[in-house]
Amino acid sequence: MVVLCRLADLEATGAKELIVDDAGLKQAIFVVRHAGGVNAYFNACPHARLRLNSAPDRFFDMGRSFLVCVNHGAHFDVTNGLCFRGPCKGARLRPFHIRIESDNVIAADPDYTL
Ligand code: FES
Repeated sequence: MVVLCRLADLEATGAKELIVDDAGLKQAIFVVRHAGGVNAYFNACPHARLRLNSAPDRFFDMGRSFLVCVNHGAHFDVTNGLCFRGPCKGARLRPFHIRIESDNVIAADPDYTL
């Protein structure tokens, strides 16, 4: 079982950026907390495959209503990763599957490590 972070780690910015290891392949992901729950996505924008953020753990708009890619301004629904505005409208962030146990965010796939 790989604990990615605690729910309390998401309070400051609503998000936590992490690097996971899949059999030696390092991949950037981020976990987001919102009114409807907690989601995680690979940190690769469907527009140009760049990381969404330029500052640590900063993925939300100012009101914490949606996710923003800083590169070309794509806006994403935080609950399902759907781009609803910007150059990749209609595309989705790739989900990283998690589960919540007590106060911990856990990688659903046990092959991933930190
Ligand atoms: S790389 Fe995200 S909007 Fe272009």
